[in-house]
Amino acid sequence: MPNKITLPKITVQASPDVAFIKYWGKKNEIERIPENGSISMILSGLHTTTTVEFSEKLSNDKIIINGKTADKETKRVTEHLDRIRNLARVTFKARVVSENNFPESTGLSSSSSGFAALTIAATLALALDLSEPELSILARQASGSACRCVCGGIVEWIRGETSSNSYAQTIFPADYWDLRDIVVVINSEKKKISSTAGHITARSSIFFETRQKNIQDKIEKMKKIIAKKDFASFGELLENECLEFHSILFTSQPPLIMWQAETLALFKEVMDMRNNGLPAYVTINTGHNVHIITLPKYQKDVMEKIKELNFVKKILLTKIGGKPVILDEHLF
Ligand code: DP6
Repeated sequence: MPNKITLPKITVQASPDVAFIKYWGKKNEIERIPENGSISMILSGLHTTTTVEFSEKLSNDKIIINGKTADKETKRVTEHLDRIRNLARVTFKARVVSENNFPESTGLSSSSSGFAALTIAATLALALDLSEPELSILARQASGSACRCVCGGIVEWIRGETSSNSYAQTIFPADYWDLRDIVVVINSEKKKISSTAGHITARSSIFFETRQKNIQDKIEKMKKIIAKKDFASFGELLENECLEFHSILFTSQPPLIMWQAETLALFKEVMDMRNNGLPAYVTINTGHNVHIITLPKYQKDVMEKIKELNFVKKILLTKIGGKPVILDEHLF
């Protein structure tokens, strides 16, 4: 009897991102085609490391996340592996081992880096030779924000009308602008509502239509401001977008209040810093932790002020990161 086939084992490391202009609401739930385009920066130093190995010896997909057999995530990961298996026309099951070096499900976007790393590792393991847009389209179907994390630097996800033209691309490389993102972890408690569930209620906010009317202009404005490296205008637009996005969440049915008291306290602290001549601006995803964006010359002072706050559990310092990297290709 011939030996059972095991394919090469591939390890890929991808970073999550934080959106300057948020993806919120889907035109097509199944394909994850967004209601609007978005812009984000990839976060250097934070990462998900994922190893994928397909083998004829396995009877089921085995998914281990942060050292534990995943239950909640298994369906979504298996469905994504199915998409990749269909492309490669194979039926082998896979062993997937994934680790994050940052707290997950707290608004730090572990699904964006997780599905970007999985997409690249699994396609390479099955010898699929895909371009960056093709990888972005594939990753998007597992988690919208993952389509941005197959790219590096400052990234734009172009909404597109159909699956084949809804993908992300780098608009400014990682070394274009030395922005710092001070990620402040207030607590590592997992959020109760996932982004995926939240997207479904986006349209129920009375502000949603207004947002959609103006969002393309906002995207164009953001790109122009970044092109000029105008930090004050960038920060104002970043915060305006954060507050608009959370206003949609607050006014959705049922309301989505992701913030904790400390989230608001920190937001006000950053506004005070600005009033005292320290330029720093806030953005927040679907979670309670806070991203404070500043420039290198202000970073030390901003961090010192934050460290004084007794509710701050952890501070992660990041800057604009690059594309995912292949760490290892073990030939059996
Ligand atoms: C608020 O990409 O997590 O972070 O496509 O259902 O996986 P799914 O949603 P996800 O949504 C991210 C929402 C956001 C904004 C953003 O990252 O643009």
